[in-house]
This record gives sequence, C-alpha cells and structure tokens, in this order.
Amino acid sequence: MKGLILSGGFGTRLRPLTYTGAKQLIPIANKPIIYYGIEALTRVGVSEIGIVVGDTRQEVQDVVGNGERWNARIDYIPQEAPLGLAHAIKISKDFIGEEPFVMYLGDNILKDNLNYLVDQFKKNQPNALILLTEVNNPQEFGVAVVDEKGHVKKLVEKPKKPPSNLALVGIYLFDKEIFTAIENIKPSWRNELEITDAIQWLLDNNYQVESQTVVGWWKDTGKPEDIIDANLLVLEDVESDNQGKVMDSTINGRVKIGKGALVEKSIIRGPAIIGENAKIIRAYVGPFSSIGNSVTIENSEVECSVIMDGATIRNLEKRIDRSILGKNVVINQIDESPRTHKFVLGDQSYVEIIK
Ligand code: TTP
Repeated sequence: MKGLILSGGFGTRLRPLTYTGAKQLIPIANKPIIYYGIEALTRVGVSEIGIVVGDTRQEVQDVVGNGERWNARIDYIPQEAPLGLAHAIKISKDFIGEEPFVMYLGDNILKDNLNYLVDQFKKNQPNALILLTEVNNPQEFGVAVVDEKGHVKKLVEKPKKPPSNLALVGIYLFDKEIFTAIENIKPSWRNELEITDAIQWLLDNNYQVESQTVVGWWKDTGKPEDIIDANLLVLEDVESDNQGKVMDSTINGRVKIGKGALVEKSIIRGPAIIGENAKIIRAYVGPFSSIGNSVTIENSEVECSVIMDGATIRNLEKRIDRSILGKNVVINQIDESPRTHKFVLGDQSYVEIIK
C-alpha cells in the first residue's frame, strides 16, 4: 500500500501565517503538522509516500526531505494549482500505479493508529474506505449519509441543510477505481475536482464504499482556532523531559524543556513544551502552550498558545491566551495597558502596545 499526502493548497483561512509559510509546516507541539501524517503512515508500514505540493514546494521539501528519518521514500508531486483533492489524486496516477493507497490531508491530525482502517480495507477489499466523525457544524464539511451497517449511501460537500452530522475526515483508502471515478466527474462550481463527487460516482456505479468512525480525536487545522485546539490535544500526551536549565522556578505537571533552554524565576504549568534555547524569565507559561526554539518570554504570561521560533514577548501586563505568534514576532509592552490581548500574528510581525 502506498501513501499520498496532500500539501498544496493556498491556506487562505490561515492568513497571515500562510503568506510566509506552508500551513502544513505550522508547528503543533513544536513539530510540523505534516510530520503527524507521515508518522501515521509509516507506523502502519506505508513506506512509499508521495507528497502533492503547490507554491510552497521548496520549503515543504526542505523541512520534510526524502523520508530517510522515517525509513521511508518520499516523492514530491507538483500540482500546478489547487484544483481539488480529486485533482491531486489524478496527477498522482504515475506515482500510485495500480496499488491501493491511503490519502492523508497534510493539514489533518488524527490521534488513532491507522491499523484498524488498513485491516478493514485488506479484509473487505472495498473500492473506497472513508473515515467519518460527528461534528457540530456539518455545513463546513463533506457530509455522509450511512445505513445501520456503515455502508455509505450518499455524500454532499458543505451542504446548507446537512443530511447528517457525520463529516468526512481527511483520511481515505482507495483502490485504483478512484482514477476511473475521477475521469468521470466534472469540476464543481468552485472549479475544483471534488473528492466527494468522485466517491459519489463510485456509489452511483455500484462500487463498494465502506466507512469507519474515528475512535480518538481528529483535527483539521484549517483555521487559527483549530491550530490552538490541535496543539491542546497533542499536548495531552506530552511527556516530561528536562534538557534545559531551571533556576528558582516551579514546574508543575508534564513539561518538556529542550536543550539550551533557560527557565529562571518562572512558573511553568504543564502540559507544555519549551523549545531549544528558549528563555523564560520572570514569566508564567500555562497549560497547553507550545513555546518554539529560541523564544524569549520575559515578565509576561502565556497560556494555551502556539509561539513559534524566535518570537519575543516582553513586559506584557495581561496574559496572552489562545493566541498564535508566527516566527520572530515581537510583542513589547512599553507602557501599562488595562486591556487583555488576543493575537493572530503572521511571521515577522512587530507589535508595540502603548497606553
Ligand atoms: P483545504 O484546507 O481544503 O484547502 P486549502 O489548504 O487551500 O485552505 P483554504 O481553504 O484555507 O484556502 O485543503 C486540505 C488539504 O489538501 C491541505 O493540506 C491542502 C491540500 N490540497 C492540495 O494539496 N491540493 C488541492 O488542490 C487542495 C484543494 C488542497
């Protein structure tokens, strides 16, 4: 079985972060999102992986490499424009050949081990196996109607009146018939070849489409609040490990501190992760925070946030909560301010708060 990870797209909903970087490289617990997909695939023995890339090809390639570190082989498949998930499959035909494959959206994180999906696919040999989960806002997803046996009856993309609350999760298993389906569908109103249309074509032509529901959690990191939530969920499993220097400080719960980091006169409450060479001085870092490499937090409080490499936070009177700071962002309070702060800042931003 091969693997196909989709890492093209524009990531418009994550601007400004995606003006300067690929969304799939945004760190969750200090690890690029796309790594979670690669690890999920290699864990079930999928070692030939194709990554579909767009405008951010070079940086994805620079960060991910040739797959050596996962004992896998990674090929890159350029997509001229984000013309849909089914289009991404279509252009990967030479890479996939005749083999069944797992498609994994590069901005998704799934807690489950993929074993149960691969086992079901091998045992029942359907033409497609889709993964579903209950959501509160089905209007924003591809939605499935299934019968009592889990057989899929119908799929609709972002329905105004959802026929169920079962959303399609960004992980799919297909055999080669998906290429036949894609040959037979037309682009949608948004000019994309939709994967839901391709699967609906399989259903309409009596191919076998099975479903499974997510056991643990699943997160699509399309929007800023999803990044915060994904970070929170991943940090639930962080393990304590201190490779830095801790002086006159209190560390509660599970906290991972990287090499060269300095924590001085501070309180850190886990679960949290502090990157290499970070400096936390007279500060509070609260639960569900991911502090990147070489970040400085001084005289300030941060909780439940993703602070990327090289950022600096100084002298903030109010706590930073549920925020995302891009690389090298500087926030420096020069005078007192009575207001709270809530930020979504792109890379290289600079904020100065004056009374
Ligand atoms: P989406 O989140 O649907 O699209 P996007 O990344 O362009 O984001 P936005 O809607 O905010 O502009 O894409 C899901 C994943 O699939 C994501 O990792 C990007 C990838 N993708 C491709 O590789 N090619 C495509 O043609 C599309 C539509 C998405």
